[in-house]
Amino acid sequence: MDTQTVAVLGAGTMGAGIAQVCAQAGCDVRLYDVSAAAAAKGVKRIADFLAKGVEKGKVSAAERDATLARVRTVANVSEGAAGAVLVVEAAPEELELKRKLFREVARAAPPNAVLATNTSSLPITKIAEGNAAAARIVGLHFFNPVPLMKLLEVVVGKETAAATVQAALRFGRLLGKEVIVVKDSPGFASSRLGICLGMEAIRMVEQGVASAEDIDKAMVHGYGHPMGPLRLTDVVGLDVRMAIGEHLAESLYAPQFAPPALLRRMVAEGRLGKKSGRGFYEWTE
Ligand code: CAA
Repeated sequence: MDTQTVAVLGAGTMGAGIAQVCAQAGCDVRLYDVSAAAAAKGVKRIADFLAKGVEKGKVSAAERDATLARVRTVANVSEGAAGAVLVVEAAPEELELKRKLFREVARAAPPNAVLATNTSSLPITKIAEGNAAAARIVGLHFFNPVPLMKLLEVVVGKETAAATVQAALRFGRLLGKEVIVVKDSPGFASSRLGICLGMEAIRMVEQGVASAEDIDKAMVHGYGHPMGPLRLTDVVGLDVRMAIGEHLAESLYAPQFAPPALLRRMVAEGRLGKKSGRGFYEWTE
């Protein structure tokens, strides 16, 4: 697949990370956000990440410069999508917003472009419903931090064509990701397992089975996880994980995903994890 130009819609943490890995793989990237300031903030995120990479000796100064030179901000969706072989949407998790974006993208992108959404919670099938380009719409679910996390879930909607899936897999491999193919079902393969573990760990704290630190140690030292489920909940945000848990409990009719009372209480008290300074751990920075 010709991967020359990639459009990334949304310059937040995920969008910036996706733009970065595409540029590092040699693509020309057009980065769009609702305001020029938001798009510029995305470029700054990339520059900061690469600067840390140079500091750590993981990225050369030449690679940093070449990567940044391949990222250009654009003022509207059409300008980004025109001529792109791949469009990746990383906008907020609102169904109507994404449906609208994909209608615009379908009009502006070349007729053979792959149109991907980075959604982690909305059904691909619903995003693509009624879209003239539904066969080319696919999920490309990246993980945070995108440049460091190897996994890429390719999520197949009801109308996604086999050729679209193949193109998405080829693209994921070009980015150096470990690609997996998942049916469009709630939580895909990753969040469905991750949230289950997280909610159970919180129930264990609630029941006094062990301290948060020791439950995390069980997974880190017993199972080789890079980070325990409670620390990860702090990093992702308790409110974010609670919302995903509610969504999965409802859509999968499965009580194991339902947020425990302790999680609800902590969120109500504003103990949201790293971003609020306190969750299962104290965060000072
Ligand atoms: N540029 C290049 N390389 C960098 C870097 C940078 N800016 N920053 C760090 N690295 C490299 C380090 O040099 C190191 O490389 P080696 O292993 O070769 O030494 C590696 O990345 C790990 O970095 P650190 O040792 O500094 O940090 P760490 O051990 O804390 O690892 C982490 C960082 C890989 C992110 C680890 O903390 C981790 O795996 N965390 C869990 C992340 C996770 O679970 N993410 C999923 C969230 S859920 C999600 O995203 C889905 C959703 O839809 C909500």
